[in-house]
Amino acid sequence: MILQPINPNNRLSAEHALFVGSSGSGKTTGVKQVGVIKATDQVALFDPYHDYDSLCGREVRRYTSLAAFARALFAARAAKGCRGFKIAYSPKDGANAKNLEAFSKVVWGAGDGLHKKPLKVIFEELAKCVNTSGAARGAFGEILTGGRKFGIHAICIFQRGQEVPKTVMGQCSIKWVGRQQRKQDAVYLANELDLPVDKIIALPKYHYLMKKDDHNIGQFDSGKLKKLAA
Ligand SMILES: Nc1ncnc2c1ncn2[C@@H]1O[C@H](COP(=O)(O)OP(=O)(O)OP(=O)(O)O)[C@@H](O)[C@H]1O
Ligand SMILES: [Mg+2]
Repeated sequence: MILQPINPNNRLSAEHALFVGSSGSGKTTGVKQVGVIKATDQVALFDPYHDYDSLCGREVRRYTSLAAFARALFAARAAKGCRGFKIAYSPKDGANAKNLEAFSKVVWGAGDGLHKKPLKVIFEELAKCVNTSGAARGAFGEILTGGRKFGIHAICIFQRGQEVPKTVMGQCSIKWVGRQQRKQDAVYLANELDLPVDKIIALPKYHYLMKKDDHNIGQFDSGKLKKLAA
């Protein structure tokens, strides 16, 4: 059975985010640091490699069983007081399309356009789980194209822009770009995300460019990550 989200609400704004950078460039650290997640947020994580023991000072509850993850997520969403939570699904067989889709179906069913808090959803290792050609499909595609109305904010993490469907680039209003390894990767991102290619090429490790919806054409922020305590 596929659960459907409830209470579509067209007044909600689109707040999906993407984090793209080569291995070790600081994507996961960026998610923890640059303000897209707060300690009081309700967060579901697809975290196949256990990258998140904690998130914004809160412990991450981790499940290797999808059924147990779903029970924990729905109980936390329904709980009185709308407290923040961080609940992760870490499938035993890692990052693959089947696991991403199963996770996405659960998360999609937890959407509620009238809930007091959005449901933020972290998708780690996206490139290992999607088909690059064409649009994002299945429940993951639904989250990207229809999640806004149900208060679902996707946070998509991957290494190269060419490795994910164009839907990801098109639907994410917050874009974090870290160091790239190859010029052609930087050129691709510059074109897709409308950022200056020379600035992307010049990024060292842990430095980033960040573009948000309220930036005008040609505007963006830049910064350097802090080293987080282990
Ligand atoms: N400003 C910094 N100074 C020193 N080390 C840092 C800094 N920022 C992050 N690191 C460390 O660099 C390593 C890589 O960072 P991180 O895991 O965020 O990269 P990533 O892009 O998510 O990598 P991967 O593609 O492997 O998931 C981590 O061990 C992290 O703690
Ligand atoms: Mg990472």
